[in-house]
Amino acid sequence: MITDKMAKALSEQVNFELSSAYLYLAMGAQFEADNLPGFAHWMKAQYQEETSHGMKLFNYLADRGGRVTLNTIAKPAPEFGTPLEVFKTVLAHERKVTAAIHALYELAMAEKDYATQSHLQWFINEQVEEEKNAEDIIRQLEALGDKRHLLMMLDHRLGERKVG
Ligand code: FEO
Repeated sequence: MITDKMAKALSEQVNFELSSAYLYLAMGAQFEADNLPGFAHWMKAQYQEETSHGMKLFNYLADRGGRVTLNTIAKPAPEFGTPLEVFKTVLAHERKVTAAIHALYELAMAEKDYATQSHLQWFINEQVEEEKNAEDIIRQLEALGDKRHLLMMLDHRLGERKVG
């Protein structure tokens, strides 16, 4: 049986992951409206990933006898700016997620909860990938400047992203 403290913290992370999904879906909506279907596809894939992260924690908590409590998901901003600004927001958000996962891991260590430490290892590794993905796209967007044809090439490439 998981401790109440650990269960509550993991439940909050379920909400954080689902609110991340909602944020990325809102960014996808902006890219759809801006006629950048590849960027929109990337964000919709990210939405699905975040949902799967939330469900991974949801199912783990259920397996350990914990209770997930769903909270309100904040309304995302109506606009996120240029593609470069959007991905800078993504990176800043992912760094917050990384910090939250690390805090969960520290709590699991303090609680001597070895099963949760083991489960969180996957998330620690995933966050390395999440930050790297955003950093790579930021670098590419910075390199192409305001050249629309290069932006469309990047849009095409992002449209090839597979989920998972
Ligand atoms: Fe689930 Fe992007 O962290």
